[in-house]
Amino acid sequence: MLGPALVHEDLGASWRSARPRPAGRHLDSAACSRQSHRVLEAVAHHARHEAELGGYVAEATAEDLLQQGRSVIGGLVGMAAADVVFVESAQAALVTLLAAWGLPAGARVACLPGEYAPNAAQLRAAGLGVEPLPVDGLGCADLEGVARLLATDPPRLVHLTHIGSHRGVVQPAAEMASLCRAAGVPLVLDAAQSLAHVDTDVGADVVYSTSRKWLAGPRGVGLLCVRPAVAAELTPVLPAPDDVPPLRALESGEAHVAGRVGLVLAVGEHVAAGPARVRERLAALGRAAREVLEGTAGWRVVEPLDAPTATTTLRPPNGVDVVTTRARLLTEHGIVTTAIGPQRAPGEMTGPVLRVSPHLDATFDDLEALATAL
Ligand SMILES: Cc1ncc(COP(=O)(O)O)c(C=O)c1O
Repeated sequence: MLGPALVHEDLGASWRSARPRPAGRHLDSAACSRQSHRVLEAVAHHARHEAELGGYVAEATAEDLLQQGRSVIGGLVGMAAADVVFVESAQAALVTLLAAWGLPAGARVACLPGEYAPNAAQLRAAGLGVEPLPVDGLGCADLEGVARLLATDPPRLVHLTHIGSHRGVVQPAAEMASLCRAAGVPLVLDAAQSLAHVDTDVGADVVYSTSRKWLAGPRGVGLLCVRPAVAAELTPVLPAPDDVPPLRALESGEAHVAGRVGLVLAVGEHVAAGPARVRERLAALGRAAREVLEGTAGWRVVEPLDAPTATTTLRPPNGVDVVTTRARLLTEHGIVTTAIGPQRAPGEMTGPVLRVSPHLDATFDDLEALATAL
């Protein structure tokens, strides 16, 4: 069944034709998206260059491209090229930031109760005290409550996960950024699920993310973006060489450079597609998924219908196991989704969910096929 057209069908068609045909129905970009032919070729080309020229010489020839990438990535988060470094993952970005920040033991960090558990674990491992931000029933920051907290008992920093791994709702990051700025409290934004998905130019002091999800770049590459005021508080183990911006001290030296090259190409493809149009189509896909899936075989959608994301999570009917369902969808129907247990966000989740996260190429037919398979 073809179903109704979704907004910007041209984007869906061009995204689909730009990459290898999926083996089944890939509805799992919140886990890891599908790279384009050009990205795959750029990665392979750089690896080949390493074999021909030597890894360090090849890296030097790629430096102009990487610098353009830092600049365009900076643009996506409202920062400059000098504020952007490449790391290996979103987690690596957070660990690198915290290590260089060296905040005193017990310094207080306010996070959502639904914080991504590995982030909360890293904050605690850095000796920080993790405290909950006030939220509404859906887990969205309660701005009045946050303003009160910042006015009466400000934490050392606020760490906000823009879109959770376990829920397709967007936090009011721009509003949080202005509240934090007014209070003089730095805002660190986890944009692992939001970069290239919703607007990330929100005024945060630190933004970190990953390549493989909504940007559809290679695995094993991440990004850390830090505004100069926070960068000035960081003490890297070794300073950067004189001829590069100081933040570059945080960029990992030994790295999957071919992957970074691929990420830069993926960022270019995202910008060429038009970030605003991408956002509109992803939001329309999320809405369509929720409309199609709500109530199907007793599964219940967690997000409001119009949450502006492509991510939908489903609570199972009584007696249905999410892990088994995810495996059945994959092996019997070729549909790729994620089973998420409550341990991923234990401060908020009360049970497991099935996450459905289509990228631009998904069709109404894919969503109907998932509903039928459920
Ligand atoms: C919200 C969120 N933050 C951080 C991460 C960690 O990203 P990475 O695996 O690149 O370290 C993820 C990954 O799923 C995520 O969903």
